Amino acid sequence: MSASQASQRRLTVADLEARKGGEPIVCLTAYSASVARLLDPHVDLVLVGDSLGMVLYGLETTLAVDLDTMIRHGQAVMRGSRQACVVVDMPFGSYQASPAKAFTAAARVMAETGCAAVKLEGGIDMAETVAFLVARGVPVMGHVGLMPQSVNTLGGYRAQGKAEAEAKKITADARAIAQAGAFSLVLEGVMEPLARQITEELPIPTIGIGASVACDGQVLVTDDLLGLFADFTPKFVKRYADLGSVVSGAAAGFATDVRSRAFPGPEHCFGVKAED
Ligand code: KIV
Repeated sequence: MSASQASQRRLTVADLEARKGGEPIVCLTAYSASVARLLDPHVDLVLVGDSLGMVLYGLETTLAVDLDTMIRHGQAVMRGSRQACVVVDMPFGSYQASPAKAFTAAARVMAETGCAAVKLEGGIDMAETVAFLVARGVPVMGHVGLMPQSVNTLGGYRAQGKAEAEAKKITADARAIAQAGAFSLVLEGVMEPLARQITEELPIPTIGIGASVACDGQVLVTDDLLGLFADFTPKFVKRYADLGSVVSGAAAGFATDVRSRAFPGPEHCFGVKAED
């Protein structure tokens, strides 16, 4: 079932799982109620990604994003959406220390936002945590390949799986997360043939970003797709609009009108009679 077909109720994790090998899952990020409202009729899945640290807050990496911030934005996105399944990212430091600490953090996210699931980064090293969460009622979306929270150990934001050893590691990570009970898996910045192969092998849907058209779904950061985030544009981003220019043009128009006293006009003021 797609979001448009399920207009009476929100898509669930089970609906998305059932899309394995079927109609591709459409996913975009949102951090606010207003953007969630605009995306909701068109997507199956809204991800409240910790990319908000870079996109909204201007941080250099996602590492400084904290749990309270993710919860606040998760709440806003839930308020703005009606039918899409909403998944909230677990921020760096909130789940790596132990499965029990991960559960405490994930339980807060689930209870305080009302979202359907959490997403966390990591492979074999995080499989025990994923199993622990799933066994306690927290649906988990995995994330392997290019993991922005591991930028310091991965050595930068570069495509993953070129070398054979790296490809084997990503495959093993993907298998471990699927076996641990994740309901879906983000493959980020993974070489196309490898992403295709992992998608064919895994029983759960893969959501690609810079991966392969063969993935069971695709995700992009909305600000990238809209041309609002201009710091850098990764190769895998397709821009569907240039809102950066639109916003800049609107601000310039406003500035000109204010400086020339063309704004506000009588129609924007109270107590001014309309001219004959
Ligand atoms: O934080 C995020 O927005 C993400 C997506 C890019 C997958 O993890």
